[in-house]
Amino acid sequence: MREKVRDMPYRLGETLITAPQIQARVHELAGLISKDYSNRDLLLICVLKGAAVFWADLCRALCVPCQSDFVAMESYGDGTSPTTKPRFTKAAGVSLAGRDILIVEDIIDTGHTSVRLRELLRIQEPASLAMCALLDKAERRQVETPIEYCGFVIPNAFVIGYGLDYAQQYRHLPYIAVLQSPPET
Ligand code: IMP
Ligand code: MG
Repeated sequence: MREKVRDMPYRLGETLITAPQIQARVHELAGLISKDYSNRDLLLICVLKGAAVFWADLCRALCVPCQSDFVAMESYGDGTSPTTKPRFTKAAGVSLAGRDILIVEDIIDTGHTSVRLRELLRIQEPASLAMCALLDKAERRQVETPIEYCGFVIPNAFVIGYGLDYAQQYRHLPYIAVLQSPPET
């Protein structure tokens, strides 16, 4: 374990999106959302843990009333079989019925988590359901899923920072970087 932690700094690759670029885009997204959700009943659903940093900046940049709640999903791990549908490890604590739900996600990769999440939230019959994802790894998509508000489309690389982790590390970085492959041994 100590070895693993000591190696961590060496996995930090090139910066893909700088902190000022993220902040500028978060404020643009908040402007669009504020326009679209004026006079509605906005409930942000932040998907833990990865979206927590994005949610914190996004909600503070909104200029419409909103509430927030948090969900967490079982991970697909390496297997993305549609037969093993992930469940909530933490479900929303408030009723979603009749509310305007905006899911706040860190990244859409294969799309399986998003498809499943929408399915689970729709059961409660919200008035509307939309997705705001900071990152879209479009090349990796296996199932179609709409992203109504998208921060950045990124290439097919494993990324870390601004909430996104590798082995629970790097979430605190204010920018997004590529995870570097370990050196050949
Ligand atoms: P999905 O493949 O679209 O179902 O994404 C599943 C989850 O994998 C995302 O919500 C992220 O939490 C995680 N994930 C996918 N790609 C990355 C990445 O590049 N860095 C960190 N986490 C990722
Ligand atoms: Mg996620």
